[in-house]
Amino acid sequence: MDFLNINQETCNKDGICAEICVGSYIQLGEDGYPVPSDNAEELCLRCGHCVAVCPTGSISLREMPREECLPVQKDFLLDADQCEHFLRYRRTTRVFKNKPVAKDDLTRLIEMARYAPTGYNSQCVEWLVIGDKDELDKLRENIADWMRWMLTNMRERALSIHMDLALARWDEGVDVLLQNAPAVIVAHGHKDNIIVPDSCKIALSHLELAAPSVGLGCCWAGYVEKASTFFPPMLEALSLPEGHQCFGAMMLGYPKYKNHRMPTRKYPSITWR
Ligand SMILES: Cc1cc2nc3c(=O)[nH]c(=O)nc-3n(C[C@H](O)[C@H](O)[C@H](O)COP(=O)(O)O)c2cc1C
Repeated sequence: MDFLNINQETCNKDGICAEICVGSYIQLGEDGYPVPSDNAEELCLRCGHCVAVCPTGSISLREMPREECLPVQKDFLLDADQCEHFLRYRRTTRVFKNKPVAKDDLTRLIEMARYAPTGYNSQCVEWLVIGDKDELDKLRENIADWMRWMLTNMRERALSIHMDLALARWDEGVDVLLQNAPAVIVAHGHKDNIIVPDSCKIALSHLELAAPSVGLGCCWAGYVEKASTFFPPMLEALSLPEGHQCFGAMMLGYPKYKNHRMPTRKYPSITWR
């Protein structure tokens, strides 16, 4: 099977696939049928835009079988009111049921989050799921140690985000560090790949939006990310692959309470030019 396949029996030669290809890796031959350029196999991003846009379903990539590229279901598309509702419904969860997260629910969620955009469609985001109680306790201890280090060595900065208050509550036995979450998910990738940090954040953002659909709630674990970046024992505790860094983390669990209203936000500051 070729890298790119065109079904000439159904192709209507409209040229949309060639027009839409990000690097012009599809060209139109003299007979009007699309053909891959010489360097297409090497340079193609495998974004699937050509597959997505073809109205006759005549194009497929070797690595992207047609039967796995599901048709768009118009009934599932949100109108603006539904979309606003969907986005406003997203909420940070900080009170979780005392119940482990089912692997099936998390797998489903990660499988949805993989559709988030990544730079160059590199799909460079990798996931670490921590549900083991001892490992979670180790993370908490490392966050607390990092905060103590910050309060001693970078006091101004630590005080600016109220680390003193957080640590005092932690010392009183309140888990403000990981909110007693039954699981933490870490998005990671190679630290030298400039695409990775943003891609991790975007993937986590998708994961957060999708979480309620499988009954889960999330809270960004900012302390996990920052401690793992600036406090070597935390990175060690995460035990990521060589050269990898945590570029975002989320606490996860089943929310103890439901939300009944959607609070307001400031009107956005917009400059029109
Ligand atoms: C990058 C980032 C890091 C965050 N880190 C934490 C955290 O460590 N602990 C926490 O309780 N909430 C954390 N949050 C959640 C914010 O406090 C929360 O999004 C904000 O209060 C608004 O509430 P909402 O998400 O329900 O709209 C974080 C949010 C973001 C975007």
